[in-house]
Amino acid sequence: MEVVILPGTKQIGALAADAIEALVRRKPNAVLGLATGSSPLPIYDELASRYEAGGLDFSQAHGFALDEYVGLEAGHPESYREVIRREFTNRVNIKPENVHGPDGAAEDLEAACQDYEDAIKAVGGVDLQILGVGTDGHIGFNEPGSSLASRTRIKTLIEQTRKDNARFFDSIDDVPHHVVTQGLGTIMDAKHVVLVATGAQKAQAVRDFVEGPVAAICAASILQMHPHATILVDEAAASSLKLADYYRHTYDNKPEWQGL
Ligand code: GLP
Repeated sequence: MEVVILPGTKQIGALAADAIEALVRRKPNAVLGLATGSSPLPIYDELASRYEAGGLDFSQAHGFALDEYVGLEAGHPESYREVIRREFTNRVNIKPENVHGPDGAAEDLEAACQDYEDAIKAVGGVDLQILGVGTDGHIGFNEPGSSLASRTRIKTLIEQTRKDNARFFDSIDDVPHHVVTQGLGTIMDAKHVVLVATGAQKAQAVRDFVEGPVAAICAASILQMHPHATILVDEAAASSLKLADYYRHTYDNKPEWQGL
């Protein structure tokens, strides 16, 4: 696990975009794992402006969303399918048919979750998975207690997550209780994971998953077992890390050829 502490969201967006740009240049049909929430927005902004500037081509790339609410009608502006479109895929030349999300409106949710797992496998798996982290340490919508080996499935949200996400809805009553999410095992299959966390409200979660024990109570802690996990944090989100100085020293002295 590599922890990189950066001054702000602009630098985080640029560094993550560098890794994605290098991937797409090396492998034009790269498979990107796309997250929602505010944390990845600087990455999407940076990728969109690099695309507009020319030279960055997503025409053969694929995108797979992490998760989706259950019970929002198709086209609901806060469904993650719409959010991903609005925040990223509509702003670059990725083909709409190459962008996928778990189907939270399916009648048979279990079958839809299996189909989603199969679709990811069919394109060879996710090359780079973008992640945020919830205040309780969730990734995707894998709330505390999620099996560390879980696959895409239905989950029930913890009340705090509904409160955290109420800002996107008219009222907390409109935030669904159920979601479908890639499991922790699904996320762990991605070849590279890049997690972004910013702001003091994430400091405890970051401390817990980076330096605490690997445990289902903090789902993101499973990333300690990932062979290529990059954690991009600002100073505020890094403020509770015990080894912050070591992470800074390591990154400052990292050989340039290594990339992220
Ligand atoms: C939601 C999403 C997560 C995201 C989290 C944090 O619960 N399902 O994928 O990481 O919110 O969101 P934010 O980045 O806005 O803090």
